[in-house]
Amino acid sequence: MSGCTRTLMLGCGLAATVLLSGCFERPPAHSQQQGYRGTGMVQIDNPRTERVVSAANQVPVALPALPAAGTLAKNTFKNVQVLGELDSAEFTRTMLAITAWVAPEQGCNYCHAPGEDLSSDKLYTKQVARKMLAMTRTINANWTPHVAQTGVTCYTCHRGKPVPANLWFNEGGKGEGMKGAGRRDGQNRPERALGLAALPVDPYTPYLEKAGVIRVAALQALPEHMGDGATIRQTEQTYALMTHISKALGVNCTYCHNSRSFGDWDQSTPARVIAWHGIRMVREINTGHLDPLKGVFPPNRLGPLGDAPKASCTTCHNGVAKPLYGAPMAKDFPALMGVAMKAAENPAAAPAAAAAPAAGGPLARILFATGKAGIDTEGKDAIAVAVKALKGDAALKVDISGFADKQGKPDKNLELAKERAMAVRDALTDAGIAKDRINLRKPEFAIGGAAAESRRVDIVPAS
Ligand code: HEC
Ligand code: HEC
Ligand code: HEC
Ligand code: HEC
Repeated sequence: MSGCTRTLMLGCGLAATVLLSGCFERPPAHSQQQGYRGTGMVQIDNPRTERVVSAANQVPVALPALPAAGTLAKNTFKNVQVLGELDSAEFTRTMLAITAWVAPEQGCNYCHAPGEDLSSDKLYTKQVARKMLAMTRTINANWTPHVAQTGVTCYTCHRGKPVPANLWFNEGGKGEGMKGAGRRDGQNRPERALGLAALPVDPYTPYLEKAGVIRVAALQALPEHMGDGATIRQTEQTYALMTHISKALGVNCTYCHNSRSFGDWDQSTPARVIAWHGIRMVREINTGHLDPLKGVFPPNRLGPLGDAPKASCTTCHNGVAKPLYGAPMAKDFPALMGVAMKAAENPAAAPAAAAAPAAGGPLARILFATGKAGIDTEGKDAIAVAVKALKGDAALKVDISGFADKQGKPDKNLELAKERAMAVRDALTDAGIAKDRINLRKPEFAIGGAAAESRRVDIVPAS
């Protein structure tokens, strides 16, 4: 080899080192095994970046509870539309809390115009805050398959600031690219939120506002099935969304997928099901609550295309798998928990959950304790989502499949899987779903996946 080539190679090596050090974090990197051995399902983190993320996800202390005043807010005050059923002392405590979460520097005046009665709705911020109260209650009451009992408060998104970080606006790559050169679709404009990849910069509009199909592989070969998700455009958008999700949660793809088959639910982790509900929840937050505020916000708050600011996974998650490391802040605030808004007050909030099931994805997954066929609270929540979808779509029919693990006696396990499937079917019929819309499938053994996931019943749209 000539000296010249050797110098060239050395040069290349150096350049590569410099380039790569821009991509990777300095060691030490810790890895933690998550799936079965040999599946490569590990999570990698780095104590240095972890410290920064952790500092940004600390929770403020809850205000102490106040003795009840014994009067309802709607009777004590003049213009209380959302929190009327609250004890008026608790109402005042809630006002103090939202001030600390949303406008700690500006104080009560951020929403209540100085010199005006507290009942006045003069400031747009108060009108927005009222919608935000309703939205937060809807999230906590209707989206337990995602937020569980942890729930969210204003702080989950706002973090002590009137405008949360990590919002997005419609972008759509309008007016981009040269004539005849095709659609650029917002590509090759690296964004940090999407891992600096050359993917479309706006996976939000198609998936977190519109209900686009999240697929890279068509289920059938013929061109008329391309709508199932085989187009290059959908594939690129799907990967852009997945990159966003991974960045938002600070996790690898293998937190949810076994990368030997991204699409297969049987090989995915339970987190993927939670994420599936999360995608539907964010759609509802955006279309049911934030989009409609377009007319309330002043022009300087709107996007370049005149749309209202919207939420993504990052808005709540801020780089961690459970926002604020799963600190259950909401339980201390009855004003924000568990009270479903009446459909009339909040029409958009009604049946959106799981109304458009993913092709191939379960409507609900119910997990069971070893040796038991009883449905726990989480299982009931999951069933509620399926009931909602069935009630929202009269044409929808479902298959119910029980899965068993191979530990212990196989026959007994299959019998148990059948019992569990029947318990789920009964829960559906008890909730008013007609028997002829439910098809009970033969129990099967689950392949791969976590052990707890094997003891389950899936409710899937009938094929
Ligand atoms: C982020 C916005 C926001 C901040 C900050 C805020 N409020 Fe409010 N306030 C509201 C909203 C929204 C309502 C109406 C709630 C409803 O309709 O259920 C309201 C209503 C009230 C009412 C009832 C008035 C009436 O007669 O109808 C009182 C009293 C009140 N707030 C006191 C306070 C105090 C005191 C502070 C400061 C500690 C404060 N608020 C800070 C948004 C805010
Ligand atoms: C899911 C995330 C989320 C939650 C939870 C949330 N908000 Fe918001 N909030 C937003 C977004 C997004 C905006 C739009 C930002 C903007 O105004 O530019 C916003 C805007 C606001 C504004 C207007 C600020 C301004 O200056 O324009 C107020 C006031 C507000 N929120 C109050 C609240 C209150 C009070 C709660 C809790 C009851 C709450 N929010 C819960 C996401 C959230
Ligand atoms: C927090 C969980 C989560 C993470 C992390 C995640 N995904 Fe996904 N992924 C999902 C969910 C949920 C779906 C199904 C979405 C739907 O159908 O609505 C999905 C769907 C997909 C699909 C489509 C499969 C098909 O049926 O065609 C691909 C491909 C994919 N993900 C790749 C990735 C890649 C690559 C990464 C890492 C950059 C990743 N995912 C990270 C949850 C996740
Ligand atoms: C309104 C706030 C909010 C938004 C927006 C949000 N999440 Fe979540 N998410 C939560 C909360 C709260 C939890 C914790 C629930 C718990 O304690 O089990 C959670 C938990 C999760 C988990 C389970 C993590 C684990 O380790 O068990 C996944 C996965 C997840 N979210 C994915 C997503 C994805 C993907 C998106 C965007 C499509 C999203 N979330 C948007 C609030 C949110």
